[in-house]
Amino acid sequence: MPARINPSILSADFVNMQRDLERIAGADLVHVDVMDNHFVPNLTFGPQMVERVQATSPVPLDVHLMIDDPDRWAPRYAEIGCFSVTFHAEAAGAPLTLARTLRKLGARAGVALSPKTDVGAYLELLPEFDQVLVMTVEPGFGGQKFLPHVLSKLTRLREAAERQGVEVWLEVDGGVNEQTIVQAAEAGADTFVAGSSVFGADDAGAAIEALRAAAAPHVH
Ligand code: DX5
Ligand code: ZN
Repeated sequence: MPARINPSILSADFVNMQRDLERIAGADLVHVDVMDNHFVPNLTFGPQMVERVQATSPVPLDVHLMIDDPDRWAPRYAEIGCFSVTFHAEAAGAPLTLARTLRKLGARAGVALSPKTDVGAYLELLPEFDQVLVMTVEPGFGGQKFLPHVLSKLTRLREAAERQGVEVWLEVDGGVNEQTIVQAAEAGADTFVAGSSVFGADDAGAAIEALRAAAAPHVH
């Protein structure tokens, strides 16, 4: 099965964004980490910057909102045409209502789970989502070490999706490299975010290809 590779521009050079978007033109989606300095202790960019990235990128955007009150702010990212909009389960007041709103606005709706968040409540709600993002680091920063104990969530999600016959992408985010991507794919992931391992390579395009080749034989 094909493996989707979504490089995270958190590891890009923010003042050379256009150049760095071109470096990852071979990606499936561009992962955009929106952080508000409240939900996570880091600050990146908001809708104005994301709109410019969207206009500039040859590849559609996979927006990951690490912000408080996504019920209020997430629809804006769908309105500006982002391909997928993922909010955190820990931050949403009414996740099902929000997912339905995002879909109505034409975006793929995603829910993200921080490492300590249990997946149980979402297993029977998979038809409401187009993707589930499982964090394999604490959200907030690139370049952290992959947390393998989180992988059991992917196994449970994959089993639930197959049992219910639901087409949902299972995305893994944090510490993904050519080794950890194999474990994540074996556990059930089919969509992989990679920041430092792509942008830290001399040839980002080759790094994307290498990740895809490492994961593909193991994707369910
Ligand atoms: C972390 C972000 C990730 C981050 C991944 O909070 O959600 O998308 O950019 O970076 P790496 O691949 O370096 O762990
Ligand atoms: Zn992310």
